[in-house]
Amino acid sequence: MKINHYINYLALSLFLSTFLPTYLFAQTYGQNGMVVSDHYLASEVGVEILKKGGNAIDATVATAFALAVTHPEAGNIGGGGFIVYMKSDGDVTTFDFREKAPLAASPTMFLGEDGKIKDNSNHRGLLSVGVPGTVAGLYQAHQKYGKLPWKDLVEPAIQLAKKGFPMSWGLYKAALRMSEGDESWDIMKDYFRNADGEVVSPGEIWKQAALAKTLEEIKKHGRDGFYKGKVAAEIEAYMKANGGIITQEDLAKYEAVERKPVTTKFKEFEIFSMPPPSSGGVALIEMMNLLEAADISSVEFNSTAYVHLVAEAMRRAFADRAEFLGDPDFNPEMPVDKLISKDFAKARFENLDLKHASKSDSSKYGQLYGGDHTTHFSVVDKDGNAISMTYTLENSYGVKMGSSKLGFIFNNEMGDFNPIPGVTTSTGLIGSDPNLVAPEKRMLSSMTPTIVSKDGKPYLVIGSPGGRTIINTVFQTVLNVLVYDMRIDRAIEAMKIHHQWLPDQILYERNLLSPDTRKALEEMGHTLRPTTNIGVLMGITYDPNLKVYMGAADSSSEDGAARGY
Ligand code: GLY
Repeated sequence: MKINHYINYLALSLFLSTFLPTYLFAQTYGQNGMVVSDHYLASEVGVEILKKGGNAIDATVATAFALAVTHPEAGNIGGGGFIVYMKSDGDVTTFDFREKAPLAASPTMFLGEDGKIKDNSNHRGLLSVGVPGTVAGLYQAHQKYGKLPWKDLVEPAIQLAKKGFPMSWGLYKAALRMSEGDESWDIMKDYFRNADGEVVSPGEIWKQAALAKTLEEIKKHGRDGFYKGKVAAEIEAYMKANGGIITQEDLAKYEAVERKPVTTKFKEFEIFSMPPPSSGGVALIEMMNLLEAADISSVEFNSTAYVHLVAEAMRRAFADRAEFLGDPDFNPEMPVDKLISKDFAKARFENLDLKHASKSDSSKYGQLYGGDHTTHFSVVDKDGNAISMTYTLENSYGVKMGSSKLGFIFNNEMGDFNPIPGVTTSTGLIGSDPNLVAPEKRMLSSMTPTIVSKDGKPYLVIGSPGGRTIINTVFQTVLNVLVYDMRIDRAIEAMKIHHQWLPDQILYERNLLSPDTRKALEEMGHTLRPTTNIGVLMGITYDPNLKVYMGAADSSSEDGAARGY
């Protein structure tokens, strides 16, 4: 059975890799609204809600719950994330539902007696789980700005879980990997199996009965359906039985927070993004300001000068990110206003050498790439409300553990804290204070849900997964649209690079940067390393002349789709 699946899969992959790349470059139009997400069924759920008279917040809630069923590697109720919301009057707010460290957490909780991280415990096993925030965040956003009843927004996800949906080839590849993985991946062993104990094959209907029941509790009781009662009791029991520390008290105390966005002006546009505890918005704005100071508009896309300038902006923003940023509730003195100011950008680029690469000082700050399995979706409605939402389990399928009675997977987001106080190394560890573990603290994130407006109306709604690469992926896509006038599908697919201060190297998308440019960059002192793909963007732009939205899902998303109406 399994061998047949593999043969089919290989034949289809060959067909797709031969014919699909040109076919996938396409944007979708919508006059009344648009949802672009990592799964076509979730996008369709969101659009149906818009058609029923729901607003962008309603569509967001329904899409997020649907993704928790159809895109479980990152769509979730066991993780956390951020919403940036631009209302039709141009006002912008954000919701922070980032996971928190449990009450029993401490700065040295991952260390053995030798002072080193024990058994990769900040990424593996239940100590790596942060108190989930997704349900609280969606509920708070809906309570404040939603229009349709809550139960109508959870119901489509319940139906998808109960009645099932066809297994895609993309999901099937993960299903094979997850079903026979590490011993500790308890929930994954049967997660993708049918009643006969076989991994559900492509085209076969995949049902999730336990998840449907958990979603029923959330539908009936709102936030309390997750953070109190049966579900909370089972979470605590599961944690206790398997070495975790999250309790019912942690869950009951969890609150999402509405925060002001970070913002800057760039040409005739205004950029709004997520403030700390995400580092994404601050770094994005710092880099946009740096490139404005460097007159990026006069530099040709993908030239040596372009890659050099963009990489140097990234180097500086990531050094500042590592040094200064963390949970604002624990770091009241964080210099956010300074980091996003135009004056700071000018000063920060004073030592820029247009002919030579700067050097990242390894005695200071830097960080390795984080988990790259997050998911982003973008929503607009007929009234011009727009939402940019990114949420995550950290790694693909999070910690790959969870109670099979509840049917959802927990995050391993505690890995986004700095694990060893005071230890910062050139190979990537960071030990600075702002992002050390503390009870009830939110770990620093790189998620960068972003909305750009023009004349007070949404012009670009954009975001991506990808750990620390998220910030740079969103940054370059914003440049592609605002500076290089690319339409949304081209902006998403265009060549991306990633530099994050340390390691001191430029990661670039293989086959998309010419050998001549790479050679010229190496001669300037840059180190280059190829990678297959950076980012999985989901974006929407608005054409004010035609009065139409255009959406595109990154071709690297296996099941992603833009749906407009
Ligand atoms: N888990 C990825 C991030 O929050 O940056």
